[in-house]
Amino acid sequence: MITEQAPAKINLFLHVGDKRADGFHPLQSLAVFTALGDMLAIEPAPLLSLAVEGPFAHGLEAETDNLVLRAARALDQRGAKLALTKNLPVASGIGGGSADAAAALRGLNRLWTLGKDETALRETGAGLGSDIPVCLLSQACFMEGRGEVLRPAESMPCLPMLLVNPGVAVPTKDVFAGLETRSGIDTALPRGRFSDTADLLRFLETTRNDLEAPARRIQPVIGEVLAAIGALPGALLVRMSGSGATCFGIFADEDCCRRGGRALQQSHPGWWVAQTFVPENGILHEAPGQDIGPTPDGL
Ligand code: C5P
Repeated sequence: MITEQAPAKINLFLHVGDKRADGFHPLQSLAVFTALGDMLAIEPAPLLSLAVEGPFAHGLEAETDNLVLRAARALDQRGAKLALTKNLPVASGIGGGSADAAAALRGLNRLWTLGKDETALRETGAGLGSDIPVCLLSQACFMEGRGEVLRPAESMPCLPMLLVNPGVAVPTKDVFAGLETRSGIDTALPRGRFSDTADLLRFLETTRNDLEAPARRIQPVIGEVLAAIGALPGALLVRMSGSGATCFGIFADEDCCRRGGRALQQSHPGWWVAQTFVPENGILHEAPGQDIGPTPDGL
């Protein structure tokens, strides 16, 4: 059996430019990956099948054609038994579906011994969703284009992080459609050799997530989430990820992060609160994150 991790993708910042002729928006972002994620198990089988379990499995029940299955079919017309453990909230700005699809592409390339290189997998992935190329790498990366132009950050500090989702879904398409002000895509991106958290924050303070304002107009509770994380001791940077509604906080240390997570779970029992971290240099070593809170009904 092959197992592939599908870590959560967090956009530390996200700048958007004017809509292109193909309907997509050009962007600039720094994406990082957390220890917390979904998990995909893959076994040989004559037919292609997908079973979903885990705390957010019900979020995918209504889907007749999951992105994981579409990724499998885009790679080859062969069989495999796929089992997805869904730990991340669905449609929540942290790339869950894209990470799952990327895990399927990586794992099936191995199972079926297709020998496709990174570039070939990335091309297949890009055709299925803008975030799949970066999720194939699952490594701290600057993103440009519509998300397919990638440059890994050279060094990154370990970042203790809280992920918080208030149990509402905001469709990516609607958030992009509601954009009013854009930062544009002309920010001079650094080399990405961040020596420590302060160094990283100095850069991030010059940036923002352009999708935060339109997402908040659709779901004002996102503003409450941001304020609640920001009020926790040791919170250094608080933002929404992707098109939301999941927000993240970077904390001064792991202890503050854990205490903050517990406090938030108590004050907002309906919210999904997960304590995790972005590993040093943005590269994962398969350590599991810890999901503190219950699964809210709305997700
Ligand atoms: O590529 P993906 O399926 O994730 O995109 C979902 C929707 O988000 C697109 O249909 C588009 O409306 C919007 N989008 C965009 N520009 C991007 C990425 C996504 O406008 N760079």
